[in-house]
Amino acid sequence: NKRVKIKTILEQNPIGQEITLMGWVRTKRSNKNVSFIALNDGSVITNYQVVADPNLIAEEILKKCTTGACLKITGNVVESQGAGQSSELNAKTIEVLGEADPEKYPLQPKKHSLEFLREIAHLRMRTNTFSAVFRVRHALAFAVHKYFNDKGFFYIHTPIITASDAEGAGETFKVTTLDISKPPRTPEGEVDFKQDFFEREANLTVSGQLEGELAAMALSEIYTFGPTFRAENSNTTRHLAEFWMIEPEMAFYDAEDNADLAEDFLKYLISYALEHCQEDLKFLQSRLEEEEKSKPADQRSEMGLLDKLRFVVDNEFVRITYTEAIDILRNSNPNKKKKFQYLIESWGADLQSEHERYLVEKHFKKPVILTDYPKEIKSFYMRQNEDGKTVAAMDILFPGIGEIIGGSQREERLDLLLKRMEELHIPIEEMWWFLDTRRFGSTPHAGFGLGFERMVQFVTGMGNIRDVIAFPRTPGNAEF
Ligand code: 4AD
Ligand code: MG
Repeated sequence: NKRVKIKTILEQNPIGQEITLMGWVRTKRSNKNVSFIALNDGSVITNYQVVADPNLIAEEILKKCTTGACLKITGNVVESQGAGQSSELNAKTIEVLGEADPEKYPLQPKKHSLEFLREIAHLRMRTNTFSAVFRVRHALAFAVHKYFNDKGFFYIHTPIITASDAEGAGETFKVTTLDISKPPRTPEGEVDFKQDFFEREANLTVSGQLEGELAAMALSEIYTFGPTFRAENSNTTRHLAEFWMIEPEMAFYDAEDNADLAEDFLKYLISYALEHCQEDLKFLQSRLEEEEKSKPADQRSEMGLLDKLRFVVDNEFVRITYTEAIDILRNSNPNKKKKFQYLIESWGADLQSEHERYLVEKHFKKPVILTDYPKEIKSFYMRQNEDGKTVAAMDILFPGIGEIIGGSQREERLDLLLKRMEELHIPIEEMWWFLDTRRFGSTPHAGFGLGFERMVQFVTGMGNIRDVIAFPRTPGNAEF
């Protein structure tokens, strides 16, 4: 008998057929006449009910059907007597594929805290919450490829090991084969990277953008989707040391085209999840409702998860410039809170997350596309605006998340780009390959980066970014 997944049973309702089910026990309830086993195989959030008659299944087998054990069950699908499901499986044979000692198995059929589950990340995907999150994550990743493929964009695999620090923020992880306790030295006493594997210093990529720009200058419209690495020591609910980023890059796009694409893309991803992950999202919504109950009434969210997602899909994002945002923040500050104060004095300061939150969650109550930031707080490659002070940058801010996308129109004019790189002491000789795009056949182009985990957070409603990636890399955390 071939294995049938629970998802297939629920879709096809094969009443009267003999099937084989394989999966892990979530719970077992027994009396002397019958045992009910709730089995889950990960294909859907729903557990499937297996009915075991002690006259057919030996007691020693039933004893081993404890929470976490893996079973292979063959039997007949019959109409369900109970309320929940339309069918259930009458077991003819049960084979215990893998036992799970109830004394030692860490997952009990009760609610565990997310903090506890983070400590056992190797097992947490067996819970409803995490299996739902990872099914949604899968759907979103698939939707990313579908969106761009349907639009004629090409998927480029940019390198993970590189010598460039695209964002110039100096937050790279070094890659070396040298013995760091006694590295080879030059006669001057410097570490001799000529003797290293790549015969130079190298690091893990912080962004595929620069290589993406090279590809866009040949294939017009491309995207990357890969892991990126940042050694920022930020122990927050929004930062990972290893996160996945989607970076489209388009020749012949200006800043407005870029924002249009970004908004359309985000709405597409959310719509895709709403359409394809209904059951999981409903479960995650009910999980959040439970969580909300423990909060003080005035801090509870007015909208459920699904309504929140539909709201973003159905409404236009707000588009304002940095300068307009500063004005709003200046005139806001209803309680004259000190933390907003410094902005009043200084145009040019970077927005802190509380400012972003204010704009998105209090003032507009909508996603906001913030454009035209002061050049001093943005990367060297962004296109300078006419005013000489701002660049054609774009950040997209989401409620509950903050910055979800960062992007810009790129500086395609060689002279201006060189000038900016000099001002920022970026080693121009080392970037010869990047500058060649501006030397040969340069053209206006633009792109952006979507932090994939932040998107998964928004769609699933998970509060901590560590809970939307299977094995989070954060400061002090790289065990498995
Ligand atoms: O704003 P960032 O740094 O932009 C870039 O890297 C550009 N090269 C993108 C481009 O224009 N092609 O990062 C882009 C997004 C952020 O908006 C955020 O969503 C996410 O990446 N991000 C992180 N996500 C998780 N953990 C971190 N440490 C992140 N840093 C950035
Ligand atoms: Mg950014």
